[in-house]
Amino acid sequence: MTSKSCYTVAMKLPLLSTSKSLQGKRVFLRVDWNVPLDAGFDAVDSLKLSRSIATVNMLKERGAIVLIATHLGRPQGRDLKLSTKRLLTLLSLGHGLEVGHLPYALDAERGLSRVSSIVSNALPGTVFLLENVRFNKGEEKNDKKLAKAYASLADLYVNDAFASAHRSHASVVGVASLLPHFAGQNLSDEVKALEKLIEKPKKPFVAFIGGAKITTKIEVIQSLLQIADHVCIGGAMAHAFFVAQKREIGKSFVEKEGVVVAKTLLKNKKIHLPVDVTVTKKIEDGAIARVVPVSGVLKSEMIGDIGPKTMQDWSELIAQAKTVVWNGPMGVAEIPVFSHGSLVIGRAIAARSKGKTYGVVGGGDTLPIAIATGMSEWFDYLSTGGGAMLEFIAAKGKLPGLVCLLK
Ligand code: 3PG
Repeated sequence: MTSKSCYTVAMKLPLLSTSKSLQGKRVFLRVDWNVPLDAGFDAVDSLKLSRSIATVNMLKERGAIVLIATHLGRPQGRDLKLSTKRLLTLLSLGHGLEVGHLPYALDAERGLSRVSSIVSNALPGTVFLLENVRFNKGEEKNDKKLAKAYASLADLYVNDAFASAHRSHASVVGVASLLPHFAGQNLSDEVKALEKLIEKPKKPFVAFIGGAKITTKIEVIQSLLQIADHVCIGGAMAHAFFVAQKREIGKSFVEKEGVVVAKTLLKNKKIHLPVDVTVTKKIEDGAIARVVPVSGVLKSEMIGDIGPKTMQDWSELIAQAKTVVWNGPMGVAEIPVFSHGSLVIGRAIAARSKGKTYGVVGGGDTLPIAIATGMSEWFDYLSTGGGAMLEFIAAKGKLPGLVCLLK
C-alpha cells in the first residue's frame, strides 16, 4: 500500500451519522482506558479518559445503552488488582460519569447470560462498564467465540480506542466484523492528526524517540528514517548506540539485543545521538548529578539524561523544523534532576507548534511530561497512543483496528 492510499483509507473511517437513531440501541463501545494505577491500585487520571468520555456522553445523550469495554494492564488471568472497578471512583468523581459495573466473565456462559439479561432490561441512556476484556480467555488471540459473545450483547460496535488499534484482539478486531461498526470521535481525530505525519509531512521533519528499548521501536525508527530528515535518539535507547560505538556507559541500563540493531543504524546520517549526558552514581531521588561529554562517563556512573549541549543542538533542529514528532522520555524524567532533557525538548516543540511547526507528542510515558511542561495546549496534537502511534507511522496507517472498520 502506498502512503497516498493509506491516507485516503484513514479518511474513510465510518463515523456515526447524527441522523442515525440510537434510541434504545445497545452499543459495544471499545475504549482504551488502560491508565496508570497508583501504589494502591487506584486509577490515575489520563487524557485517555476525557477523550473517550466525550464519546460515551454523546451515545448516552442520543439514547443508546452503552457497554464500555476496555483492557487495563496486562493481567495473567482474572487478576482483580486490574479489575475495571479500579476506574469507577475516578470516572465518577473526576469526570462525573456514573456507570453500572458488570464484573462478569464473558468467556463463560453464565457471565454472558447475566450481562445479556441486565443489558436487555436497561433503559435508554444507561451506561455500563464491562470487566477488563483481558480477563476473558481468547481476547488477545482474537478468538471467534469470544467475539461472537461480545457481538451478542449489542446492536452496533463503536471503536474509540486508538491506543489499542495496533492490537488484533477480539474486542478490537473480531467483534467489529460481526456488527455494524463505526469509529468514535477520538479514534477518528487521532487518525486525522497522525496521518499528517505520514502523508507528505512538511520538511524539515524531526523525530524524537526515547525510552528504554530500541528493539521495540526499530520498525518505526526505520520508517522514520525514510520520511524524516533527522531522528534524534534519547533515553536509555541511546546507550545501545554508545555501546555500538565502543563507548563507556558505566552501570547504565543497556538492552543487549539493541546493540546489534544500533550497529546497523550507526552509519545513517539522519540519526542524531546525544553529545553530552547527565550522569550520577545511582539513579534515585536526590541524586548528585554532573554533566559530561559522551566520552566522559566513568565505569562507576549511570546516565540519567541528555546533557545541555544536546538540548541546545536539538532545540535548534526543532527551531528549523516544520514537522516534529516525539515519543519516549529523553531521560529518567520522573526524577527532577534527570527531567530537564525531556522538559526542554517538550517545551521547544510546544513553543514552535500551532503555527511554525506541526508538533505531535504521544505515548503513556511522554504525555505526563508534555503536561508537566505547562505548555500542553500548545502542541498541535497529543496522541493517546504509544505503541499505536509508533505502529501507525511504521505501518503507514494500516493498523488492524482501523482496517477492520473499513470493511
Ligand atoms: C497502551 O497503553 O499503549 C495501550 O493501552 C496498549 O496496551 P498494551 O501494550 O498492553 O496492548
